[in-house]
Amino acid sequence: MCGIVGYIGHREAYPVIIKGLQRLEYRGYDSAGVALLDGDLNVYKKQGKVATLHDFAKDKPLGAKVGIGHTRWATHGAPSDHNAHPHVSNSGKLVMIHNGIIENYAAIKTELTQKGYTFKSETDSEVFVNFIEDIYQNTLVDLAEAVRLALTKVIGAYAIVILSTENPDLVIAARKGSPLVVGLGKNEFFLASDATPIIEYTNEVVYLDDQEIAIIENNNLTIKNIEDVEMKPYIQKIDMELEAIEKGGYEHFMIKEIFEQPRSIGDCLRGRLNANEGHLHLGGIQDYINKITNADRILIIACGTSWHAGLVAEYIFEEFCRIPVEVEYASEFRYRNPVVGEKDVVIAISQSGETADTLAAIELAKSKGATILGVCNVVGSSIPRATHAGSYTHAGPEIGVASTKAFTAQISVLAMMALMIAHKKGAIKESVYRNLLLELDAIPDKVAKCLDLNPQIEIISEKFKNATNFLYLGRGYNFPVALEGALKLKEISYIHAEGYPAAEMKHGPIALIDENMPVVFIATKDGSYEKIVSNIQEVKARKGQVIAVVTEGDTEIGSMADHIIEVPAAHEALMPLISVVPLQLLSYHIAVMRGCNVDQPRNLAKSVTVE
Ligand code: F6R
Repeated sequence: MCGIVGYIGHREAYPVIIKGLQRLEYRGYDSAGVALLDGDLNVYKKQGKVATLHDFAKDKPLGAKVGIGHTRWATHGAPSDHNAHPHVSNSGKLVMIHNGIIENYAAIKTELTQKGYTFKSETDSEVFVNFIEDIYQNTLVDLAEAVRLALTKVIGAYAIVILSTENPDLVIAARKGSPLVVGLGKNEFFLASDATPIIEYTNEVVYLDDQEIAIIENNNLTIKNIEDVEMKPYIQKIDMELEAIEKGGYEHFMIKEIFEQPRSIGDCLRGRLNANEGHLHLGGIQDYINKITNADRILIIACGTSWHAGLVAEYIFEEFCRIPVEVEYASEFRYRNPVVGEKDVVIAISQSGETADTLAAIELAKSKGATILGVCNVVGSSIPRATHAGSYTHAGPEIGVASTKAFTAQISVLAMMALMIAHKKGAIKESVYRNLLLELDAIPDKVAKCLDLNPQIEIISEKFKNATNFLYLGRGYNFPVALEGALKLKEISYIHAEGYPAAEMKHGPIALIDENMPVVFIATKDGSYEKIVSNIQEVKARKGQVIAVVTEGDTEIGSMADHIIEVPAAHEALMPLISVVPLQLLSYHIAVMRGCNVDQPRNLAKSVTVE
């Protein structure tokens, strides 16, 4: 939710910032702006994508060596030029970008209005910069101290970067609840919402912690916390290749990321699984293995696609570990009064590691004494830092807003976690365990075989691109895949789609079925195969159009369905890793054929840092 970039150093700031904003555009794309400080302060802002801003700015003075930029996902105030960031204070001396929400902005605005401040936008961020200005002008403190004092009074979430016309050698940044990374170059500093705008220039970064303030002045970085205590910067080396954040010849990030899955699942398993030797080890949870093995219950909290991965994990954990599992939407869990105890283990799943609801749910469970594990993709993000332990998914940067490779990497990690615990607990037979390790090891090759189905899926997509509704049905391990398939389609193609357990169809959704209703069945050979065959017959009897994802060689469903997509056989517990791939491709092609922007669907942002 909003991407921010800042630069100070020996280069021209604008190209660094605009490229950085393009890399962060997945975080928000309804308006964008830059502020460049070069004796004068020049601020350029435009509603729309970063490309619109770039076009607008091209004839303007762009030579400054210090600047900030922002790409917005609107919270307060509709997308417009005047609501776009950066925001300039009333005196014209301070300019700020902000990612987050200031909850008490209305009270501050009233106070500032009474003092004569005026506002050009409807944003909380413009109030915030003027609040800082007011403190700065009315106390005898320097700007960094004024920022710190303001931060002690605002309620909400923020990542901010501020410049002052009075001192072009100074950049002040701070975070609470919204991510912020400082990149350390040679006589230059970068600031960004994540490391992707930075890795082109340096691999040395400092991830700011909540309530920390970074002051970059005269080529020096100082970090202090909001209590005014100086902190020693913890410099990390990031291991990310530039090509991982570029399209690499694909038309969209989404299709690149779908095709990356054999590699990303392989990366996730590497160094953890040695199937031939029967070895499986997730170092990140080792210290908590006894606690997990003896847990009363496992609670999984997540949102969206990550929640679907959690549902798959529920089935796997219960089947093999014999520990009760509950899967909760983080947004619901955090606002009720859940019963959580010290013998509960919570697994928080998040691609971005920044989802506000998931973070809040973690804090709630932590306050009740539970052990919290994280399954996250973005290294150094907030969730891994808020949890007791966890495992990264190592899927590499996921830039397409619709999650694909993160989902399969999450399931891979969760399956490994479940098998490691089941084995440690003695809840799984050695032969079953060994077989599952071999099955897991074979997944990347099987996913690669699914990708060969791409041309066939493109042809099916052409037939259904004008549909207005879709049903996705699955049972058992394939039920969460039905939910995920429906979510993928609706979020990028804007076609209404519902996922259901196939057996629930007769309790309501069957009323929707007629000759215009495409029904996607995920009907691979597993324990509920015979039942789902009956469900397909029920749909065909009502003239629904059936697209069925089946196991290679299946002739029974082939004779009933209108279209079949044959995927390689696998153990049913791991089938979601395979059966989801054709659904990702189906939604991708339909969205492209409908002319939708698949990487940046309307109203969405990749990292949901607001409630
Ligand atoms: C859907 C999608 C979202 C995310 C959700 C949680 O394609 O990407 O539903 O899964 O916003 O995000 P993370 O996993 O970053 O916590």
